[in-house]
Amino acid sequence: MFLIFPDTVSIADYVSDTLINRIKNKPQIVLGVATGGTMEPIYARFVEQVRQQQLDVSQLTSFNLDEYVGLSADHPKSYAAYMRQHLFDPLGFDGSRNYLPDGLAQRLDEHCLEYSAKMQQHGGIEFQLLGVGGNGHIGFNEPGTPFDSRCHVVQLSEQTRIDNSRFFAENAIVPASAITMGMQDIMDAQEILLVATGQSKAAIVAEYVKNDITADIPFTVLKRHPKAKIVLDQAAASLLPEDLRQRYQAINS
Ligand code: F6R
Repeated sequence: MFLIFPDTVSIADYVSDTLINRIKNKPQIVLGVATGGTMEPIYARFVEQVRQQQLDVSQLTSFNLDEYVGLSADHPKSYAAYMRQHLFDPLGFDGSRNYLPDGLAQRLDEHCLEYSAKMQQHGGIEFQLLGVGGNGHIGFNEPGTPFDSRCHVVQLSEQTRIDNSRFFAENAIVPASAITMGMQDIMDAQEILLVATGQSKAAIVAEYVKNDITADIPFTVLKRHPKAKIVLDQAAASLLPEDLRQRYQAINS
């Protein structure tokens, strides 16, 4: 199901409130977390609310969706650095409960197996936050990725590398491959919230509605999840049929 909000500010409020409720219900929650531009206002709002409410977030565990192969956790463009900047440092996390794939792992396949196993040892993801790529990818599961995949190494598509070049310096090369949680790892989460904002996501969101579940548009798999929500701003919803846009306006928005 969709929830359509007026703008990214109201989305940040909604997602942050949702996270806070889940943490209040269960301080030891296992979260699946994403990086990227979509998440930045959400994490900023969440950090602000945690501080205002003096919420104890010290017991939660997090697993990131993905990391670039070849970037160390200290590399400024690694997802580890992104998480420290936007979430872990502001919340005072020391990283001991915050897992990311290791972009420098020697034996990548083994490392991937260990990463999926570690999630399972923690009882699996209880609440998974997702963004979506312009080609429908979730995590870095590019079009065509089998639905039963677990954590694996992926060659990034040209579109994803172009989309993500905005995060790198002008002449820097975007890594060609990444480690990502698999489609099945994501679908095993008890609850999923996917956020898409901005005009650049409107076309793929419209494709989600037009198509049945297909590996060509990875996030269509969410249609099969019993507790998945897709949260949109007006721009990302702008190519949806009018009746759907009316039906899914978020209450209070
Ligand atoms: C990031 C991730 C990706 C992004 C997606 C959207 O950890 O897994 O799937 O969520 O590429 O990125 P933005 O938000 O930058 O448009």
